[in-house]
Amino acid sequence: MKAITQTCLLSAALLTVSVSARATEKPGTLKETFKDRFLVGTAVNRGMVTGGAGFRRSPEQTAKDVALVKEHFNQITAENDMKWQLVHPRDGKDGYDFGPADAFVNFGLSNQMYVVGHTLVWHSQTPNWVFAGTNPPPTNATGNVAANTNTPATNQFGRGRFGGGFGGGFGRYSGPRASRDELLQRMREHIHTVVGRYKGKVKSWDVVNEAIADGTGTNVLRNSLWLEIIGPDFIAKAFQYAHEADLNAILRYNDYGLENPAKRKKLITLIKSLQAQKVPVHAIGSQAHLNVSISFETMDQTLTEIATLGLPIHITELDVNSAAGGQRGFGADIANNAATTQGGLVSDADKKLTDAYAGIFRAFLQHRDSVKVVTFWGANDANSWRANGKPLLFDGNSQPKPAFDAVIAEAKKASLAK
Ligand code: G3I
Repeated sequence: MKAITQTCLLSAALLTVSVSARATEKPGTLKETFKDRFLVGTAVNRGMVTGGAGFRRSPEQTAKDVALVKEHFNQITAENDMKWQLVHPRDGKDGYDFGPADAFVNFGLSNQMYVVGHTLVWHSQTPNWVFAGTNPPPTNATGNVAANTNTPATNQFGRGRFGGGFGGGFGRYSGPRASRDELLQRMREHIHTVVGRYKGKVKSWDVVNEAIADGTGTNVLRNSLWLEIIGPDFIAKAFQYAHEADLNAILRYNDYGLENPAKRKKLITLIKSLQAQKVPVHAIGSQAHLNVSISFETMDQTLTEIATLGLPIHITELDVNSAAGGQRGFGADIANNAATTQGGLVSDADKKLTDAYAGIFRAFLQHRDSVKVVTFWGANDANSWRANGKPLLFDGNSQPKPAFDAVIAEAKKASLAK
């Protein structure tokens, strides 16, 4: 009887030990778990780096968000504050607003993070003054301003979830235009000033963002005012200027929807042509704004084909939309955001998100020679541009979701984590 009681007590004690060990056992952080393979980053917003309230976040919530960023991520990208519209809103020598971008860079450096600059040349969020001049805009046969052949329109925000955009929206600029030389001069001055200011601190730049046309049409490049005024070599020029400004910075071409074979083919055509001209493109940024239909096979094929360019691949804006409205494509336009986050979540959303992330990370781990950076577009669901689609590994209270566990489990399978 005594022996039985002792055995019972012993097993009860062992049970208590193992339960409490499990309760206190913390899964590894993202940055620690993947440190031998790639950096794990996140986009950060202004509130996080300035210590104030964030967009739709109280100071207390922002403080918690910052704790999450520091715990799990070793790389940061400014979600908005280095875009031309925000960092360089006005013409002239007093035209720059560096405060928030400086705060972003200081935040990264003081937390020993790899700092990425986003973005130098983009069809969107560029103020009208950049394109303005004295040349009349081209007209088509009916006398109207020439149509933009690739929707969505260039240089505009649309009317997405955020409305007009940064306190006063603007449509595509349709007034008299700068000449090619004027626009190149403005681009060069902007790139030299911004890249030069953070030389040696910002390690990598998204030099040209989203220049490739969507769809299966024959145009490789999206129509934009950059393309119309300068011509296709606006891309080569931007890289050349960025390289002049910081010889050591890793210069990326960054685009979305590369999981789509037609768009990927255009990327490969574009980058091969730049490589043939010895343009200093050092890495491919694949945004990876995905939805829960993404599979390991699609991601594997995508990475296999991009890797043929012989450049490192940086996953630059990862998220996986679980909203019903967002299951039709891998687009990233803010103008379509309302549509792609409506309709509630798909059925069994948590499981689908978990499976999707497991497949994506399995592919990243298998492409160990190419994938060097994986950046989430937001640290938790509450900060996501697609908050309604609950697309990230942490919920709005920064609690890890099952998808987080799945990602760590993939690392274990690849013998990265204990
Ligand atoms: O901060 C202002 C706020 O003061 C104002 O009251 C409110 C009203 O409209 O707007 C707020 O700004 C919004 C900002 O996001 C806040 O985070 C802008 O309107 C809105 O246009 C802006 O959207 C950003 C979007 O790019 C357009 O620049 C998203 O945050 C950002 O996540 C998104 O990121 C892009 C990448 O740069 C490039 N790839 C696609 C990706 C998703 O669209």
